[in-house]
Amino acid sequence: MVSVLQFVRPEDDRRKLLSDEVQQQLARWNRDRLAPRFPDPDWLGVIRDDSGMMELQGSFLEYLREGIADRAADVPTDPGAFVDWFEQLESNGPGQHDPLFPWIEREASLEQIRWYLCQEAAGEAGFDDLTAFTQVKLPTRIKLELARNYWDEMGRGNAKGMHGPMLNRLVAALELEPVIEDTVWESLALANAMTAMATRRDYAWHSLGALGVIELTAPARSAAVAAGLKRLGVPARDRLYFDLHAVLDVKHSAAWNAEALEPAVACDPCRAVAIAEGALMRLECGARCFERYRRDLW
Ligand SMILES: [Fe+2]
Ligand SMILES: [Fe+2]
Repeated sequence: MVSVLQFVRPEDDRRKLLSDEVQQQLARWNRDRLAPRFPDPDWLGVIRDDSGMMELQGSFLEYLREGIADRAADVPTDPGAFVDWFEQLESNGPGQHDPLFPWIEREASLEQIRWYLCQEAAGEAGFDDLTAFTQVKLPTRIKLELARNYWDEMGRGNAKGMHGPMLNRLVAALELEPVIEDTVWESLALANAMTAMATRRDYAWHSLGALGVIELTAPARSAAVAAGLKRLGVPARDRLYFDLHAVLDVKHSAAWNAEALEPAVACDPCRAVAIAEGALMRLECGARCFERYRRDLW
């Protein structure tokens, strides 16, 4: 049922991990395995297939990790100095302030923004669910920060304010049909990496860093997309997701850094490298997306 093992042998060319074939396979697996469902009559077969996919996922994560390990190896382990280092990723992190975004803001046509959003929506792993997976068994203070963030994702209990459905409303208004098969591998890889880190407990600290760097870097991108949509006449109610994240994630980022990252490193300095690796893995995935989008759009 699942033919994955040819990709995970160490002697294989691991660059195959960054391909349509592997990333679509991982994306479909993530979609199916995380969906609520009933027990499969062949549950043993499902577990065996899953173990092949876990190997593939593990090879992919380690490949990403190797790519940034040097840069993360000597991050400060003093909690305050670490947060300073982390915050500087906004300006000096991989893919930051990519020329794609001023172009989206000022020049892209509606058709081009629609394509961009379709890629982003298909690769969207759901910040709410990633946070929920990540918070399992975390220390109380950190868990509370993730809970506050999650509650905002949930619209503080109001369905209209939930972030996921807010993005879906824009997708519907622009008549986008995001599907895995039409999505570039770079975008799928980003979602697959986020999902892998959030669901594997041995990458829990990586996930904390990867989610934190989203909060840190989303405001500038969101503001550019919101401005582009406004320029093209998309009504305020439809672009709300981007208008909101341009502002709210500035607060989310400050709170995440102070209440999740700093205490995590204060309790165990070894976590600094894991958090840094997760953040850099996420940013590298983003940088690959922006480069690919520019190549396809320009
Ligand atoms: Fe959000
Ligand atoms: Fe946020």
